[in-house]
Amino acid sequence: MAKAKSYFFCRECGYQSSSWLGKCPECGKWNTFDEEVVKIDKPAFGQGRGQARQASEPKLIKHVTYSETQRMTTHCAEFDRVLGGGIVPGSLMLLGGEPGIGKSTLLLQTVLAITDRKVLYVSGEESEQQIKMRADRISTAGENCYVVSETVTQRIFEHVSSVQPELLVIDSIQTICTETIDSSAGSISQIRECTTEFQRFAKETGVPVLLIGHITKDGTLAGPKVMEHIVDCVLQFEGDRNYGYRILRSLKNRFGSTAEIGIFEMQGSGLREVSNPSEFLLSRREENLSGTAVGVTVEGVRPMLIEVQALVSSAVYGTPQRNANGFDLRRLAMLLAILEKRCGFKLAAKDVFLNIAGGIKVSDPAIDLAVVSSILSSNVDMPINARCCFAGEMGLTGEVRPVARVEHRVAEADRLGFERIFLSKYNAKTIDQSKYNIEIVGVGVVEEMFRKLFAGS
Ligand code: TYD
Ligand code: MG
Repeated sequence: MAKAKSYFFCRECGYQSSSWLGKCPECGKWNTFDEEVVKIDKPAFGQGRGQARQASEPKLIKHVTYSETQRMTTHCAEFDRVLGGGIVPGSLMLLGGEPGIGKSTLLLQTVLAITDRKVLYVSGEESEQQIKMRADRISTAGENCYVVSETVTQRIFEHVSSVQPELLVIDSIQTICTETIDSSAGSISQIRECTTEFQRFAKETGVPVLLIGHITKDGTLAGPKVMEHIVDCVLQFEGDRNYGYRILRSLKNRFGSTAEIGIFEMQGSGLREVSNPSEFLLSRREENLSGTAVGVTVEGVRPMLIEVQALVSSAVYGTPQRNANGFDLRRLAMLLAILEKRCGFKLAAKDVFLNIAGGIKVSDPAIDLAVVSSILSSNVDMPINARCCFAGEMGLTGEVRPVARVEHRVAEADRLGFERIFLSKYNAKTIDQSKYNIEIVGVGVVEEMFRKLFAGS
């Protein structure tokens, strides 16, 4: 007979305690403990914790062999790139994202594209008919894709042993439960136990498992942090739902770099890979309008040209308004203070609105120079040449600071046919102008940039 016992779990970090606590000793948050009844039973897969499952033997590291070709391709260049070249056998991956962002669509589309291997797609959220309706929208072949609507791990492993898939997808971990634990699906102990069962399954059979996980309101993966420790790879799918583009990022990857990102566009018939993000993010500009500037940013390791738009107008109310979409409001306040001090920009008398085109969020400091240029362009109502772009960070004294990966940025701007790029003079020194058609303009301080920018136009 199984032993039933109740434990208290911290909602934030998954810390387990036998009594209720007001403050979590692990993460320091207050009032986060919930009681869950846990019945300890034989786990669904393997022999359970602490017991030897397989005879293991220490080996010299030089005698351990593996081959890179073992990686399974997803037939989607953007997805493969984020994974570091494909799916590693026996790995457990977690794909997180807000509801409705397209996680199910991405994974269903991926498994439908894998025709050379058997794949099992388990959904705890949708029926087989609903999955089929989605598959018809995406309309990819899906020769070897099995689907099943199931929520109990014990039965999932039964399906696995009858289908013998080479890839298992679980949509989503919050809807799955194991019979060994009494608490409801989505509770911390359930998520932790189910994840551990899938991990055990992946490691023992070599079949990779992709889990979908939801994201809570504050942007963290729902469920305890421990889940992120168990899995090999944490991917995040993000984007603004009002816009079509989506970014797939890797937050943790035991088998590859976390610097890579994949870009997709949500269309009526599923997700389309965007291999050329800059062309996608730059809005078509026919005429020169004041208040826009193009910044050359780097997301992960990929350079992207992004348009920044600013609107500066006289403040109607006593307190001027500041608003920024896709840019940190505190950083905007700092840049405005620099402009006031260095360029005679009368902060208190102006409302400033800033918008990063495409609904994208930029955290690369190299966008600073494009932000200040767009604000000043709108302030003096003089357009910046549309073939001009910027990459530089602002220092508090008004100096233009160098940025990382400057060669990549210049090469991308050059490739897209830009004629002039403004950089920090320290960056400009390191670049060989003769390799590019684009004119490289190095500037030391922000005043110098404005003289060059507006005097020349
Ligand atoms: P979904 O994959 O269900 O999101 P998640 O699993 O992350 O909750 O995506 C749902 C959204 O995607 C929905 O708003 C409709 C849209 N969508 C398309 O625009 N085109 C398509 O081909 C599909 C399948 C979905
Ligand atoms: Mg879904």
